[in-house]
Amino acid sequence: MTATTSAPKSIQPFLTDVKELRRRARQHLETGNITDTYRGDVDQAIEILQNVLATEIVCVLRYTMHAIAATGIASEGVKDEFAEHAREEQEHMMMVAERINQLGGKPNFDPEGLASRSASQYAPGENLVDMIKENYIAERIAVDHYRELIRYFAEKDPTTRVMLEGILSTEEEHANDMHDLLVAHEGKPMLPSE
Ligand SMILES: [Fe+2]
Ligand SMILES: [Fe+2]
Repeated sequence: MTATTSAPKSIQPFLTDVKELRRRARQHLETGNITDTYRGDVDQAIEILQNVLATEIVCVLRYTMHAIAATGIASEGVKDEFAEHAREEQEHMMMVAERINQLGGKPNFDPEGLASRSASQYAPGENLVDMIKENYIAERIAVDHYRELIRYFAEKDPTTRVMLEGILSTEEEHANDMHDLLVAHEGKPMLPSE
């Protein structure tokens, strides 16, 4: 086997040279973190993320309410699970709000219209099994929604995409947790497996 000893000399290691990157960074300082290389439509990105923010806020509220209101002998472990999910949804909420801010928007925490901006619903649930079902449904909506948004942001805005990919993997775990709780408490999954 012969080892290659010399690398081709003419290949430029970076796509844009350092001088050009520095020049661009000094230009248009008023645009904040959004530089000329941002490929997406910033206003549209902010608008989409406002809906994501509303979805996460509704998830925080729903899980928090369930963590407190769940009753019955079987509810102890479930309450802990709801509380843990509420904390994780709050982390998502913060990440999305920070990203809106980085993009130059003002994160919309206005309770007015919150439910209609959100993809998932605030469903109180009549009993423990109902609560688990509602959370399972909400997680499935979130998973579908985030998969779609990841495809939308793609290469246009890799930072937002990577953030959403991280959130998506947690939502998949949440959906799985709710599915397992449903099987444990109802003996069967609510929805046929796909
Ligand atoms: Fe979330
Ligand atoms: Fe979730």
